[in-house]
Amino acid sequence: MHADIVVLPGDGIGPEVTAAAVAVLRAVADRHGHRFAFAEHDIGGIAIDRHGEPLPEATLAACRGADAVLLGAVGGPKWSDPNAPVRPEQGLLALRRGLDLYANLRPVQPHPATLGAAPIKPHLLAGVDLLVVRELTGGIYFGDKTRDAGSASDLCRYTVAEVERVVRRACTLARARRRHVTSVDKANVLETSRLWRETAERVVREEFPDVTLEHQLVDSMAMHLLSKPRAYDVVVTENMFGDILTDEASMLAGSLGLLPSASLGDGDQGLYEPIHGSAPDIAGRGIANPVGAILSGALLLRHSLHLEEEAACVERAVGAALDAGAFTADLAGEGRAFGTDAVAAAVIDGLATACHVSELRD
Ligand code: NAD
Ligand code: IPM
Ligand code: MN
Repeated sequence: MHADIVVLPGDGIGPEVTAAAVAVLRAVADRHGHRFAFAEHDIGGIAIDRHGEPLPEATLAACRGADAVLLGAVGGPKWSDPNAPVRPEQGLLALRRGLDLYANLRPVQPHPATLGAAPIKPHLLAGVDLLVVRELTGGIYFGDKTRDAGSASDLCRYTVAEVERVVRRACTLARARRRHVTSVDKANVLETSRLWRETAERVVREEFPDVTLEHQLVDSMAMHLLSKPRAYDVVVTENMFGDILTDEASMLAGSLGLLPSASLGDGDQGLYEPIHGSAPDIAGRGIANPVGAILSGALLLRHSLHLEEEAACVERAVGAALDAGAFTADLAGEGRAFGTDAVAAAVIDGLATACHVSELRD
């Protein structure tokens, strides 16, 4: 098949990890006879420097016309002055909103080879397989913001329709898994959370009677996520809770650099990015972990291009590379670390076996 993929490398380690993910996608395309056209555009801090705005019109237009968008990360100290008129992160938020990508899927499946890098006891991690569905275009991120000399406010607002659509997406995904959804809120304090909880209850009762729904308050969820992560299947939650809980959940996998994400709306188009940021502390050294970005490429193949076999092939090749010890510094501990490009090369090498094995199985 032919696919147009827009690549937004962004800032910091963004260009390093997207280059790795693009290399893997090119290798998959070659192997399976697809033609992927990659077009790079600016977003974030580099777009502010070059064009004066974090999401130039040309970038948004290119994304709208693409089959899928692959993004690295935005932001960094250069653009973090609290008095700056515009920030790189606004570009990312505008892109998510502009494409109406309201459901952010963040799967967490610790790989056996990296369990040793996780600060959690290994016996708690075996068999963990959870999917966080984070609402991505509403809540406190997008409410009115005010500031005067002595105060500031961020409005948190959700509509019933916004909650319904993300809960529906979570339940639909749960049907292909263990049919268990945990909705996370702060209904003991927040009105938006009480709306969220009521709406989730109704959607599941009326439309997904085969799905089990439980509710969990976000503070205790932050604890349970580490003490009994196997208890969870699909976790659905609002924008900011999902942001925080997934960085926490990355410790189940062993590093923030491992987790991918897919941001989806109602159509096939999607935005794919690792959950981590621009990591200014390690940028420019070729040592960033590219696995989150590479696995985001796998999600792109699955959700936007419907190439399930190719997606699974990338995931198997990543697993094989990790099994073989292709660890960047965040995972290697005292051991010798691979650079970003060496991990990508190990994954590309692994494609031969990973794709071949499944062809034999078929
Ligand atoms: P961060 O995720 O950039 O980094 C947190 C820590 O994790 C750092 O020590 C970093 O070195 C490490 N880390 C992150 N990704 C890694 C990888 N792939 N390999 C190895 N180590 C990795 O978070 P931060 O430092 O709080 O934020 C830095 C900037 O990134 C901020 O401007 C923030 O707004 C931005 N940010 C952007 C995105 C995005 O573009 N989606 C996401 C999160 C943060
Ligand atoms: C993420 C990031 C972003 C978010 C920032 C950079 C706006 O932390 O993608 O997780 O908070 O959504
Ligand atoms: Mn985040």
